[in-house]
Amino acid sequence: MEIFSTTIIYILLFLTTLVYYSISKKQIPIRKQKQIPKLPPGSMGLPYIGETLQLYHKDPNIFFSDKQKRYGEIFKTHILGCKCVMLASPEASRFVLVTNADLFKPTYPKSKETMIGPWALFFHRGDYHYRLRKLVLSSLSPDPIRKFIPGIESIAISTLDSLAADKNKVVSIFRGMKKFSFEVGILAIFGNLKKQYKEELKKNYFIMEKGYNSFPTNLPGTSYHKALMARKRLDQILEEVICERKEKKMVENDLLGNLLSLKNDELSDDQIADNVIGVLFAAQDTTASALTWILKYLHDHPKIFEAVKAEQKEIYMCNEKGNKSLTWTQTRNMPLTYKVILESLRMASIVSFTFREAVVDVEYNGYLIPKGWKVMPLFRNIHHNPEFFSEPQKFDPHRFEVAPKPNTYMPFGNGAHSCPGNELARLEMLILIHHLVNRLKWEIVSSRDTIQYSPFPIPYNGLPARFWNEPDNEELCN
Ligand code: HEM
Repeated sequence: MEIFSTTIIYILLFLTTLVYYSISKKQIPIRKQKQIPKLPPGSMGLPYIGETLQLYHKDPNIFFSDKQKRYGEIFKTHILGCKCVMLASPEASRFVLVTNADLFKPTYPKSKETMIGPWALFFHRGDYHYRLRKLVLSSLSPDPIRKFIPGIESIAISTLDSLAADKNKVVSIFRGMKKFSFEVGILAIFGNLKKQYKEELKKNYFIMEKGYNSFPTNLPGTSYHKALMARKRLDQILEEVICERKEKKMVENDLLGNLLSLKNDELSDDQIADNVIGVLFAAQDTTASALTWILKYLHDHPKIFEAVKAEQKEIYMCNEKGNKSLTWTQTRNMPLTYKVILESLRMASIVSFTFREAVVDVEYNGYLIPKGWKVMPLFRNIHHNPEFFSEPQKFDPHRFEVAPKPNTYMPFGNGAHSCPGNELARLEMLILIHHLVNRLKWEIVSSRDTIQYSPFPIPYNGLPARFWNEPDNEELCN
């Protein structure tokens, strides 16, 4: 009986407490409860098309910077059929790309994913992405890439020779740089690939690339259809290369070798092929666009050009006028040239922004980023913010004598998807500049200050120029 009455007392106590809490909770004034986050400021434009027309009508950089001026560092818009939140502050970029990266996933249009290959690492996250990224990083880090220096030099020299083959001929700098970065990409992925394979890869890759940016209609005769066909042929060529390596039990220390080295065929041939094409794709236009801007900035700033030339001439003379190959240590000791690269990457901001998609509702700084919305960290806006880079429109490599504030300089992105090819990109740019300033002179033919997008920003018309050989210099180093 006693146990029974104690139990009753406990139940009553429990119920009273429960009723008290539920009544008292209802009485908490709304203003004391947690604020419901609201959408960031901004405008969503017209139904369906949003603000896509404004984006294309203006230069995208101007579109984003106008918005930032009007709404601040976080704002919403609706472009290319997507509801987006744009982030123009270093903290917000870090929130999305680094500290809360698991709340966001990479996102690309389906047509682009089909073209590159759905298994390419940049479409993924989690374990698959982690394992692949480790392999790619281990193939493109300083240690493995130093062996490519002589190969990259010979590609640089032959690119420059063909640019300067006819002094009177106007050539597109961007096109020349694309050939260079493609060949370097092939070298890093396949080592010394047979000429026949290289030619076939090149031919089909260029057809694929043409269709990549075209309207995705898969009808015979369209660029998109031709590109899909070329992509299939690329798979066949890669299958042959992989088969040959497997049959001959070739163990190579290049990216393909590393992808094949996983035990128990952990990666299928399709997965390997998609990643080979993916890396080649990520490597080519980015580096070519960066180099084109570097040549423009050097041309437009004669004093900096002369100082870079003096730095490079000294190394050239020590290497018996280029008869000896550059060493890794020499490539790490080009301080001014390196700062020119850093400043060109800031000024041009080749990858002006990136896309992610919120996988859940996310709250940032009191604002709601709804599930399914895209978020876009705007690298270019950050690189051009006078708070972080004084006189941002001025080309001033010396500003890099002092390291930029954390998370304000992201030409290669940030976090789990940041660029694993940045060391290779740096190496190939240094090598090309070394041979360019020592061997050639050039004159830009049209210097219209218009920017074109292909899809990365490039100077108008690929920067048409004339190149010719620099007369030999007699001094040798002591
Ligand atoms: C100047 C040249 C380059 C620039 C400016 C650049 C820039 C970038 C940026 C900003 C990202 C991150 C994109 C994001 O977060 O969504 C990225 C990713 C990537 N880059 Fe580069 N890149 C360059 C050259 C290269 C080269 C030479 C390679 C390879 C040889 C390469 C391979 C990749 C790959 C595979 C990814 C995807 C990484 C991942 O998703 O984990 N890039 N790059």
